[in-house]
Amino acid sequence: MALERTFSIVKPDAVAKNLIGAIYSRFEAAGLRIVAAKMLHLSREQAEGFYAEHKERPFFNALVSFMTSGPVMVQVLEGEDAVRKNREIMGATNPKDALAGTLRADFAASIDENAVHGSDAAASAAREIAYFFTDAELCSRTR
Ligand code: TYD
Ligand code: MG
Repeated sequence: MALERTFSIVKPDAVAKNLIGAIYSRFEAAGLRIVAAKMLHLSREQAEGFYAEHKERPFFNALVSFMTSGPVMVQVLEGEDAVRKNREIMGATNPKDALAGTLRADFAASIDENAVHGSDAAASAAREIAYFFTDAELCSRTR
């Protein structure tokens, strides 16, 4: 399988708990390579645009408030089957349903403050990467 890229966020709860390194270690241990990264404090506009697909959901306002409550780390992960592999490392959206040993089982307190974001498909990965990074910022091994 070819190298693939996915987009990831260490959310404000996990940054506040000093878990950036622990989470990055899980990516690296699984063979995913961090090819771009930065720390940001998202504006309301940035968070609303990023989660636009959820605009009509009842949790949208709470989600935007949470995502703007403190700094996040945004990163691009590269590796074989990166989108699926990252979702596997993350675990289910609700930490109560997440398999033991996943990021959300180990580090998330609740469904609304669940430690990490990860793209759910190749198309959303491309959109989300472009939302936060220019091509020149990606230190990809494929070019
Ligand atoms: P979603 O894309 O369904 O989950 P995932 O992050 O696993 O791709 O939802 C986006 C985020 O919205 C989710 O990480 C946390 C928040 N959320 C809630 O707060 N309550 C909910 O009931 C759902 C489904 C999501
Ligand atoms: Mg999602």
